[in-house]
Amino acid sequence: MSTREPNSQKVAIITGSSSGIGYATSLMLARNGFYTYASARNINKSASLQSIADAERLPLKLIQLDVTDDSSVKGAVEKIVSEKGRIDVLVNNAGYGLFGAFEDLSVDEIKAQFETNFFGVIRVTQHVLPIMRSKHDSGGIIVNVSSVNGHVPFPVISAYVATKFALEGLSESIAYELEPFGIKVILIEPGAIGSGFMKGSVMSNRALDPKSPYFEFVRKVSSKISSDHENATQPEEVAKTIVQAILSEKPEFRYVVGSDAVTLMQARKNMQYSDFQQMIQKIVQ
Ligand SMILES: NC(=O)c1ccc[n+]([C@@H]2O[C@H](COP(=O)([O-])OP(=O)(O)OC[C@H]3O[C@@H](n4cnc5c(N)ncnc54)[C@H](OP(=O)(O)O)[C@@H]3O)[C@@H](O)[C@H]2O)c1
Repeated sequence: MSTREPNSQKVAIITGSSSGIGYATSLMLARNGFYTYASARNINKSASLQSIADAERLPLKLIQLDVTDDSSVKGAVEKIVSEKGRIDVLVNNAGYGLFGAFEDLSVDEIKAQFETNFFGVIRVTQHVLPIMRSKHDSGGIIVNVSSVNGHVPFPVISAYVATKFALEGLSESIAYELEPFGIKVILIEPGAIGSGFMKGSVMSNRALDPKSPYFEFVRKVSSKISSDHENATQPEEVAKTIVQAILSEKPEFRYVVGSDAVTLMQARKNMQYSDFQQMIQKIVQ
């Protein structure tokens, strides 16, 4: 005989809710009935999110969480467990881009990039899994926001690309371990999205030096990436994909979002690698 849940409303937590994809996804999850913990490292930046939620009477609560800080992650998860006793959905979304030619990147800058985009996912997921697993009957969903750059390499953002390739490998591997517990892993692979991404990105210190042998190249490619982000796919499109996947009886393992991403993914899959390299070279020339 199964016992009734004291609280049957599903609970979601999303990282990096202060802007872009995280902001849009938090609202959409709450509008679809999930009790949504919209986490951000600085919740003051999410005041407008709370205002919308209050005006619409949405089940949304802001919570402080810095994915690079163990005690912040632990504290947030403990708070959710004490308030709701369950976590059904985790959306690992927080991230930023590190720009600069590889030779100009310091090891510390690369470590910081991994600390957020890769170890941040690991840290939050490892804290959430014991809670998700304890509700074995109802299962759970982990959505990892990767990128088209989880498959498609690009110059000037090599460290960012490396974090997303790593996230793809991690997600594919842990999906096998979590399946017996009814926990699904889903990868979201957006192309260029008109979010706060370019504003939140970091240019490597040495890349800013006009004496760098890569200075002109980095400037040119960065502004190409930047202009791709103007008039790009809106964060709401990604949010819609994430929420549809979560609500689906049988979600796919990966979702590509944006026509630019679809084109690049198909090229990566179908072209000879040398032809593909030439295509990328043409894009950045
Ligand atoms: N935009 C794109 O073109 C694109 C394409 C493919 C994939 N993605 C991925 O989509 C995800 C969301 O990015 P976005 O496009 O929505 O950009 P965004 O608007 O800049 O949002 C990034 C979010 O991550 C948060 N964040 C950064 N470091 C954090 C940390 N240590 N702890 C907690 N939160 C942190 C930011 O918080 P603050 O406001 O405090 O900085 C912000 O809320 C990222 O993983 C990114 O790699 C983006």
